[in-house]
Amino acid sequence: MSRKRVCVLISGRGSNLQALLDAEQDAYEIVLVVSNVPGAGGLARARAAGVEALTLDHKPFGKDREAFERELNALLRARHVELIALAGFMRVLTPYFVNAWAGRLINIHPSLLPKFPGTKTHERALAAGESEHGCSVHLVTEEVDAGEILGQARMPISADDTPDSLAARVLTLEHELYPRCLAEYARHLR
Ligand code: GRF
Repeated sequence: MSRKRVCVLISGRGSNLQALLDAEQDAYEIVLVVSNVPGAGGLARARAAGVEALTLDHKPFGKDREAFERELNALLRARHVELIALAGFMRVLTPYFVNAWAGRLINIHPSLLPKFPGTKTHERALAAGESEHGCSVHLVTEEVDAGEILGQARMPISADDTPDSLAARVLTLEHELYPRCLAEYARHLR
């Protein structure tokens, strides 16, 4: 079985990218990392692993999200990418891009979806008095954080937890969950 060619899209430090790089085995190969933010920490992680790392700054495209995505799409197609993993990629993608990559675009989100889509998930989980929290890997569809859930990892919330303590513990779970789900999904993708 050939390894699926994966692109990871990032905007920041790239700790999930690192986990995906470290876990590469027979199911997938990261062939490209693209950041929409110049200087994102994850770019250096990719280069250190010998992976091509590019910046595609969204700012010059202004409000034209699709123009940015057409450029991104061209980079991906040129490298025969088969599967895209979003890892802290902080741009909402338009229906044009999401539909072009339907079933081949996955994301990790720091909550137990369908609870707390969107931002500030740790604050919201505490404010809601949840007894547990965690992270979800899901397919990306037009509606934000609403696609099919591929896997989840959960943990209890304790009385002295803060948004920061939750963020740290959830991130540890993410680093274990994401590579496992990506590999599993890649293995079954035609
Ligand atoms: C993670 O919490 C992920 O769930 C969210 O953005 C964060 C990215 O962190 N989508 P990192 O850049 O992978 O360290």
